[in-house]
Amino acid sequence: MRHLIEPSDFSVEELKSLLELAGDIEKNPEKYAHKCEGKKLAVCFYEPSTRTRLSFEAAMLNLGGRVLGFASADSSSAAKGESVSDTIRVISCYADICAIRHPKEGAALVASLKSGIPVINAGDGGHSHPTQTLTDLMTIWSLKGRFEGLRIGFCGDLKFGRTVHSLIEALIRYGGVSFSLISPPELKVPSYIRDELLEKNNIPYTEVVKLEDAIGDLDILYMTRVQRERFFNEEDYVRMKDFYILDRAKMALAREDMLVLHPLPRVNEISTEVDDDPRAVYFKQVQYGVYVRMALILTLLGLA
Ligand code: CP
Repeated sequence: MRHLIEPSDFSVEELKSLLELAGDIEKNPEKYAHKCEGKKLAVCFYEPSTRTRLSFEAAMLNLGGRVLGFASADSSSAAKGESVSDTIRVISCYADICAIRHPKEGAALVASLKSGIPVINAGDGGHSHPTQTLTDLMTIWSLKGRFEGLRIGFCGDLKFGRTVHSLIEALIRYGGVSFSLISPPELKVPSYIRDELLEKNNIPYTEVVKLEDAIGDLDILYMTRVQRERFFNEEDYVRMKDFYILDRAKMALAREDMLVLHPLPRVNEISTEVDDDPRAVYFKQVQYGVYVRMALILTLLGLA
């Protein structure tokens, strides 16, 4: 039985197969419309979500399967003190596969150890968000045609932004990638990302504070919001929240073929005046998220 807890759970070859399958689903959705008939996906979300939960639901419905679950800890027996380990043992009696989001780092891993069905990490605290990574990889693959040799800028909350951590973990496996890490000093990437992923693997990277100092060199600009829910106090959040605002003036400094990605939700960090720029692909990214989650469900259920 396979789970997806971190991006590195899939080899580069397996990721390639998954992205190819997602590409085929995009082109020929009717071929896959009945693949999951009789199967059920449980979506167990202990934290708020729009995209991840609904795209998992859409993915399973597109495959002809059915969906059950809960959208907040308050509406489950977690509110009565039930552990994740017990909950997943129960869910295993009801569904064939489970996507779980939880505020605690490592919760999806804990669930997978007690589960009778494949578990997909849909975000665990500030740690990892591997299905957002699959979405991001499919967006880059579809629109750039490669990962090798790209310079990717991550901008914003690189400390708490789990999508950043997951995507760095995935991209360092491709040759010639380099990174610009653009953040205020207080929101730099955690030291384990810098030491264990970048330094240990000799990945070229720079850390800068000003977006203007990096944007002109980038193939991809990955914007992130400041993660209010992970701050210890509101005062720090308010001080940081508008540190970066990508607008037309900053886009004028970027290459003609640079792409702007954002996992969303957006708060203020990308001005809506950028939305019409053909380089802004964050809403296309959302659509790719459905195809890639369809491919993931098929793969983990052994139906690919
Ligand atoms: N990108 C993402 O994880 O969005 P949601 O929090 O809405 O699921």
